[in-house]
Amino acid sequence: MQLQLPEASVEAQRASRLLHNLIATEIRRQHGWISFARYMELLLYAPDLGYYSGGAAKLGKDGDFTTAPEITPLFGATLAHLTTELLLSSPALQPRILEFGAGSGQLAHDILTELAAGSDGADPLQAYYIVELSAELRARQQLKLQAFPQVQWLDRLPEAFSGVVIGNEVLDAMPVELVLRGEQGWLQRGVGLAETGVDGEDGQFVYIDRPAGPALVAQIPDAESLTVGHLTEVHPVAIGFMHSLGSMLKAGQGGVALFFDYGFPAAEYYLQQRDQGTLMCHYRHHAHPDPFYMPGLQDVTAHVDFTAMAVAALDSGLDLLGYSSQAAFLLEAGIGKLLLRTSPEDALAYLPQANALQKLVSPAEMGELFKVLAVGIHAGLPERFATHDRSHRL
Ligand SMILES: C[S@@+](CC[C@H](N)C(=O)[O-])C[C@H]1O[C@@H](n2cnc3c(N)ncnc32)[C@H](O)[C@@H]1O
Repeated sequence: MQLQLPEASVEAQRASRLLHNLIATEIRRQHGWISFARYMELLLYAPDLGYYSGGAAKLGKDGDFTTAPEITPLFGATLAHLTTELLLSSPALQPRILEFGAGSGQLAHDILTELAAGSDGADPLQAYYIVELSAELRARQQLKLQAFPQVQWLDRLPEAFSGVVIGNEVLDAMPVELVLRGEQGWLQRGVGLAETGVDGEDGQFVYIDRPAGPALVAQIPDAESLTVGHLTEVHPVAIGFMHSLGSMLKAGQGGVALFFDYGFPAAEYYLQQRDQGTLMCHYRHHAHPDPFYMPGLQDVTAHVDFTAMAVAALDSGLDLLGYSSQAAFLLEAGIGKLLLRTSPEDALAYLPQANALQKLVSPAEMGELFKVLAVGIHAGLPERFATHDRSHRL
């Protein structure tokens, strides 16, 4: 497939070539085949060269995609107020936040700014922890959050944590496996190399399909009803992550974890109509489906199967606290009231904020496609969140 996308700089193309060679070396070492999840892990997180680990701008106007905290500080301000409410209503929660995958650090910045403003400068949080896989993003976060000494970076999940956990667009950034319904049964789609290229260079990446193990197929409800040619994803890495989250919160004896992301319950995810899956690449605000294009220079992501996430959380001893659209969740959490701190009569200040809020809650933008999954232990969401809860759909 020939893609017509903005051209990368010579330096970026060189970095992409290095990543291509690194992945090709691994494929040869693995006798010609690696799983798609391993390919995606290297694409996104190979030290220095992966999309998240390398120097690409990634987030915001000059990057490849935009996220809620990059759109408006109202997102973080709303989560700051919700955190305060959760801490007041659930004595089992320690006054701490743990954020996974903090991107540019914008969300942490907005939450901490709002908390400080609401408490006459005395921040009620004991600590704000960040777990970030990418050393490059961690460095950006450290720069952005210099004014907040309560922020600490952790190299991995702590064994025990009590408090509020937040992850915005983190689950979709976890590697997925691709599975394909073949004539003889389900296949696992992996990555190999075409014939060696000119001048002895590594050949292009190609898909190679092998029979899929039962554990992968078991993640698809009613897999037998899907027809030959159906391509989709399953999420073993994100499921493993939810199990680790469960052990951590259980050991901490009190926690609420909120995950914002695009995705569906399994019954909508594995529909016959969605027969080419949800894998998507983002390069400079262009979306396309080719994960072999410019390795390391584009984001590669898949929608989240929220049923699988909820089941993994329940299996590891957590409670399902809620599941709703992002629009309903943010409105229940009070984002509308926060907008009204700016007077609608001050049109110059009000309109850009109202437009940004509209992006987060409009059903035509992020309001419906994005969902919020809340899981936890010895704590719950305030009662009003039950009004638009859709946990029964999971
Ligand atoms: C799409 S970006 C979202 C960034 C930020 N949360 C935002 O909303 O702007 C995905 C982020 O998740 C991080 N990430 C992915 N898997 C992770 C994991 N298992 N633990 C911690 N961070 C992870 C990436 O490095 C990146 O910072």
